[in-house]
Amino acid sequence: MKIILLGAPGAGKGTQSKFITEQYGIPQISTGDILRKAVREGTEIGKMAKSYMDQGKLVPDDVIIEIMKARLNEPDCSKGYILDGFPRTLKQAEKLESIAQIDVVINIEVSTESLLERLTGRRSCPKCGAVYHIKFNPPPEDGKCKCGGELYQRDDDREETVRKRLETYRTQTEPLIEYYSSKNLLKSVDGNKTPTEVFQEKF
Ligand code: AP5
Ligand code: MG
Repeated sequence: MKIILLGAPGAGKGTQSKFITEQYGIPQISTGDILRKAVREGTEIGKMAKSYMDQGKLVPDDVIIEIMKARLNEPDCSKGYILDGFPRTLKQAEKLESIAQIDVVINIEVSTESLLERLTGRRSCPKCGAVYHIKFNPPPEDGKCKCGGELYQRDDDREETVRKRLETYRTQTEPLIEYYSSKNLLKSVDGNKTPTEVFQEKF
């Protein structure tokens, strides 16, 4: 099963991916996570990507496409995968079509004010990748992940950058809704419900 999760920043793509991975045993492939790892490790790609990410802009298509061509060739992808945050432009979608056949595209719809609240309250674990929210999904202990890792707030989750990311989403990624709808691959889900309800409704 090859699934694309579409949705604005904070819609819950990462959160739903974790549920799907658990239920269906297919890997979550998040371009955002891959880029943040490259930033932490200080690689050339990481250094270049950081300047775009900090401004709420997209990293250039050619860079992302190279990363994904390599990633989708890895053995854990043989039975399928969840694409979280890719494709994000028409160019990426067209390229993906030439390397994989996607079964379904799930579009998670959430109101703008909820997106802002979700992103500014998000806390992430650098060690195991778990994602919390200070109000909606608090960690067992303040600032600490269940795995013991120190939780951190993403650099791009400051309100000013969040607004820019939302604008980037509207102009560059939202056209994919029409693109996949015209191919009869799109299913939309109301993402304003609780994470469990969203998962039960669609997966
Ligand atoms: P990326 O990391 O993909 O960020 P994003 O798309 O902006 O999405 P987020 O990770 O912020 O949100 P999410 O939908 O995963 O929500 P989550 O589940 O965490 O990309 C970051 C940057 O990398 C981009 O800006 C760009 O620069 C670059 N990039 C990445 N991919 C690229 C590409 N393909 N091309 C070019 N550049 C690329 O949930 C958010 C919060 O809400 C959490 O705290 C969670 O606990 C909470 N929450 C989740 N669901 C619910 C719910 N139902 N109810 C209440 N709270 C909820
Ligand atoms: Mg995410």
